[in-house]
Amino acid sequence: TAANGSAARPKFIVNSPNVVYTDNEIRSTYTYRTTEVTDREDGTRVVTPKETVYDFKLDTKIPKVGVMLVGWGGNNGSTITAGIIANRRGLVWETRNGRQAANYYGSVIMGSTLKLGTDAKTGKEVNIPFHDVLPMIHPNDLVIGGWDISGLNLADAMDRAQVLEPSLKNLVRKEMAQMVPLPSIYYPDFIAANQEDRADNLIPGSKACWEHVEQIRKDIRDFKAANGLDKVIVQWTANTERYADIIPGVNDTADNLLNAIKNGHEEVAPSTVFAVASILENAPFINGSPQNTFVPGCIELAEKHGAFIGGDDFKSGQTKMKSALVDFLINAGIKLTSIASYNHLGNNDGKNLSSHKQFRSKEISKSNVVDDMVAANTVLYKKDEHPDHIVVIKYVPAVGDSKRALDEYHAEIFLGGHQTISMSNVCEDSLLASPLIIDLVVVTELMTRLKWRLHSDEAESAKGYKSFHSVLSVLSYMLKAPLTPPGTPVVNALAKQRAALANIFRAVVGLEPESDMTLEHKLF
Ligand code: NAI
Repeated sequence: TAANGSAARPKFIVNSPNVVYTDNEIRSTYTYRTTEVTDREDGTRVVTPKETVYDFKLDTKIPKVGVMLVGWGGNNGSTITAGIIANRRGLVWETRNGRQAANYYGSVIMGSTLKLGTDAKTGKEVNIPFHDVLPMIHPNDLVIGGWDISGLNLADAMDRAQVLEPSLKNLVRKEMAQMVPLPSIYYPDFIAANQEDRADNLIPGSKACWEHVEQIRKDIRDFKAANGLDKVIVQWTANTERYADIIPGVNDTADNLLNAIKNGHEEVAPSTVFAVASILENAPFINGSPQNTFVPGCIELAEKHGAFIGGDDFKSGQTKMKSALVDFLINAGIKLTSIASYNHLGNNDGKNLSSHKQFRSKEISKSNVVDDMVAANTVLYKKDEHPDHIVVIKYVPAVGDSKRALDEYHAEIFLGGHQTISMSNVCEDSLLASPLIIDLVVVTELMTRLKWRLHSDEAESAKGYKSFHSVLSVLSYMLKAPLTPPGTPVVNALAKQRAALANIFRAVVGLEPESDMTLEHKLF
């Protein structure tokens, strides 16, 4: 791909009257088939297949995109910056295991494939890189910048993080030493007191105020202009904050939130100030940490401005495994009765989470991830019955960025028997999380180019194409506690989240969801 504003050539052409390619667009007409269930008063259940026909329109011009990370100098921020440079330059470096080349492993968009269909001649599956399904930006073309309350340049920040091999660091050091985070806002009450010693790069003021919003807006505009960008996406990968109290009159509506910031209310978190500034600049804002940045007033503000937001909390290791394993157990008809999750880690994230209020944010985001799967199985679980679920996180400096997650899943099987699964997971935390930053940016950027309208309704069609809802629940696969449009259900099950992402992308080019029925091989 060339991020030069020209339209990307699609990697395949869909041969269907419902799909039209123009110089700058792919247009499709897609029939969305759902199933409606009605329970009648007499006890009969009526199930009706439904069809809704949509028109989709994707702008295929690949824009020049910048990503601004809040917490750029942290472990994730410095790791993803080095990773993009390494990929862009095609670097290869020595390790004790041999030569290692740059890659994007761990990114669902860059590292995984999707079944496109079956080969006309052989009947075999044809799989293509996820990145080739629709015209998408390439992470190598991203311009990275951002803010941090710590003023270390990115080369020194990378050393502080203790994540990357020295041989790789040497290759990227010169370029990263030139990168220095912009000063940021620091309201000490929101993150752990143990973070204070790194807070040396600050915009003056210790609580929310309108000047902070204006400064961040200016930073986004300046970054855009300085790098000749078409779009900027802002992502919070800064410390986990404590939860903000939801207070009527303060953060419950968009207007109240704006006034609360103007009046310097103490209960507005830095992450919410960043979200507000991004929304007002129409820069999509994604929250990679667990706190409730998106207070109701913030969501309303995004809706009012048609700006995109997504969150919360990167889903990288333990929770990703949980949302796959619990899906499997419960859908296998096995009654999961408890999950005990222990973590210990020694990076700065762990240090911050050793403080109770910040741990509490993480505990909440890690705890709700099985609710939808449990609620869906009315055979195993009575109404409001839940497996026991505990989450423990301990700070053990010696293990650094290498996070250890120990999980025990205990379940009831046939005739009162038990199955206990114990798992131990060890990995560099930041190397799992950083590729998610890529996925979130690539998918979010694509969503800014995608429009829809109802095909079947002439009055609606006449109004023209619309964007998707401000709250991008299509990002759920990458997030522990997916934010969804108010009043809509949360899906945590990993396979469903991936299917939603894949099938929405397929629909944009007029293709049916991949059903995995493979009738063609079963009906000889
Ligand atoms: P880190 O502690 O290394 O980096 C956070 C950075 O944010 C630090 O450099 C800090 O100085 C900066 N910071 C704090 N408050 C700020 C503010 N108001 N403005 C600008 N910068 C600020 O943490 P790491 O490991 O990079 O993780 C970042 C976040 O991502 C954490 O909240 C963590 O919980 C979350 N996360 C990380 C995952 C992982 O696997 N690494 C998985 C899921 C979430």
